[in-house]
Amino acid sequence: MAQTINTRVTRTDARRKVTGTATYAADVMPAGMLHGSLVCSAIAVGTVSSIDTSAAEAEPGVVAVYTHETLPDYKTVKGFYAGGPGSASFWPMEGTEIRYAGQPVAYVVAETAAAARRGADLVDVTYEEGESRIHMTPEDSFVVGAGEDSDGMVLTKGDIQAGLDAAAQSVDMTFTTPFQHHNPMEMFSATAEWRGDRLTVWMPSQSVRTLRAGIAGAYGLPETSVRVISPFVGGAFGSKAGITPYTMLTIAAAKGVGAPVRLIVTRPQMFTVATFRPESEQKFRLAADANGKLTAFEHIEIAQTSQFDNVVNPGTHYTRAMYACPNIHTEQRLSRSDTNTGGFMRAPNEMQTFWGLESAMDELAWKLQMDPVELRRVNDTKTHPTAEVPFSSRSLMESYDAVANGFGWADRGRDIGSMTDGDWLVGYGCATATYPTNILASNARVRMQATGGAYVELAAHDVGTGTYTIMAQIAAARLGLPVKAVDVVMGEADMPVAPISGGSTTAASAGSAVHDACVKIGQQVAARVSGMSDGPLSGIDASRITLDDGVLRGPEGQSQSLQEALSMLPEGEIEMIGEFRHPALTDELIAATFNGGYGTAGPVTPEFAMFAFGAEMAEVRIHKYTHEIRVPRLHGAFAAGTWLNRKTAHSQLMGGMVWGIGSALHEVTEVDQPRGRFLNANIAEYLVPVNADVREVRVQMLEERDDYVNPLGVKGIGELGIVGTAAAIGNAVYHATGQRLTSLPIRMSDLLRS
Ligand code: MOS
Repeated sequence: MAQTINTRVTRTDARRKVTGTATYAADVMPAGMLHGSLVCSAIAVGTVSSIDTSAAEAEPGVVAVYTHETLPDYKTVKGFYAGGPGSASFWPMEGTEIRYAGQPVAYVVAETAAAARRGADLVDVTYEEGESRIHMTPEDSFVVGAGEDSDGMVLTKGDIQAGLDAAAQSVDMTFTTPFQHHNPMEMFSATAEWRGDRLTVWMPSQSVRTLRAGIAGAYGLPETSVRVISPFVGGAFGSKAGITPYTMLTIAAAKGVGAPVRLIVTRPQMFTVATFRPESEQKFRLAADANGKLTAFEHIEIAQTSQFDNVVNPGTHYTRAMYACPNIHTEQRLSRSDTNTGGFMRAPNEMQTFWGLESAMDELAWKLQMDPVELRRVNDTKTHPTAEVPFSSRSLMESYDAVANGFGWADRGRDIGSMTDGDWLVGYGCATATYPTNILASNARVRMQATGGAYVELAAHDVGTGTYTIMAQIAAARLGLPVKAVDVVMGEADMPVAPISGGSTTAASAGSAVHDACVKIGQQVAARVSGMSDGPLSGIDASRITLDDGVLRGPEGQSQSLQEALSMLPEGEIEMIGEFRHPALTDELIAATFNGGYGTAGPVTPEFAMFAFGAEMAEVRIHKYTHEIRVPRLHGAFAAGTWLNRKTAHSQLMGGMVWGIGSALHEVTEVDQPRGRFLNANIAEYLVPVNADVREVRVQMLEERDDYVNPLGVKGIGELGIVGTAAAIGNAVYHATGQRLTSLPIRMSDLLRS
């Protein structure tokens, strides 16, 4: 394809972002705007007995203090897609019920943000506290649906016991992962302005159409009466996918006070008013013959959910896609506890499940006295092990070979503790990365002008990933324009339909719609100029004219630049709507996306299984006496179809790997068990990797062609980099110390204990 694809292109919005001229949702200040502040529950379970608002109301600058009794015309989103991974079905402030710590119980509106905050501090809530349990209890876990074969939540192929009996070696291990929170830099916010029956909401969102459909439905308004605007998003990672109570409370408060209201959620409140990564337990029984061929593969995932929703992110659906095995059993289970409903967090639940799977595979390799890379190789497969369809492309071993080469895997000491450097124990570990290629319907509008520019418009989102830039590249490549001549606008619900920016789908699905619009521009212009009485393409069968890199070409080498052809049209410009409708998208799925939902097809279709793959290798150093853990090197090689932008793709993969270091060694939301609260709800105590923790992170991007996933051959890379990092680090810790740690995060204290 043209040179604007698969090259390093600096973000088109970089200057706007670093100079502060990119307008984020909370930068907007409608005239007469007031400020909101949330009061959140101090208990996890119980009821509100009384709320004394008098001191808050007396505070200078406070305009209104709303409680469940006084907030007028508060609507909640029911039925629509509440109860999914972005939005809980339980809505606070409909009554006195408290179902999780930190749920909103009152809403203060004031003339300044400071007055609103002071007012919130002065609201005096008394509770009747019930007993709460915030950790999940795997003993009480259950399967959503009917059990065996219900959406594959339980799946059995062959006979696990027979596979275990036939094995030379086996492992039976349980791994756990903790509560984690996304902590995007940009705070959650919502700004609402009513003008009669017309409502505008500015809010950072991964799915503006979901938000609009939910709000319009709740208020019984046509969607055309509700504007939802989210041009820039300062990090989301799954936390800005839903319709949250703070949004609906702000909309109601704005109606109540008769003025626009803006709420910026505080950092501690961000831990409780939206979604998070739930706790999980990963149970594996793996067995292999003496050559390492798997004879049994069992994975039971138990993930935490709330008391009121059954949210499943089916990690077992991806682990069972990895390795060939005649006997497979997987179960996707949930366990309840007294928290808000958990949901998407970068690679849900691949991060958790591959921590388990790839640690268990490593243990199996040690038992077999086999190179762990070779264990993956003998079990590599071009056919999905349970769906029994071929992979549309699968470059797992190519990734291992590429990363091993640059990393120096062959040079490692073969025994535990065999590598040292002074007082440091050195270990190497490896793990598989993967991410499903999810597919959603999308439209996009492209308008090209003969004067040499193009506009691209669609209701997609740039959550910090570089979407503005890659959409411009896709159009530029087809239309033969410089990237800077393509103006991309996104992030408003009234724009042409684009799906949620989640599940690593935007580049692949929304990008394919932009591509399609450009293809149609070529076809339309070809039809027009071929019908003209003169010009290089005059009289040629238009269906045989192709467009590549901005040049229209006839079957016998006749050619004309698209821009020149366009200048022959009296309009001097052309506009087309592109559509991406992958054959795997059913009418039902297309309708779901167009109605604001998540109409996702894949990763397994009746024809193919679609996944991106990679391999990661980590070097760890552990101090002999202090047990300090360092990661001096983390290398990854990845294949995910076409690379659109080698710079932003590299950043996505590297960012995922850095976050993987956090998952391995730092990140956990600590819990106050008797009171059911999150304790370290701030970014001072919620640890994430800082520069000192991140040393050499190397990313290799392998070439891979996949004509099935979409016309661009793009698989999506937003989440791939984090999957496998924790296991690669854990496996390196084992190599260095002989200690197999099964709970994330791995800490010095875990190494001291044994
Ligand atoms: Mo991503 S966790 O699907 O926003």
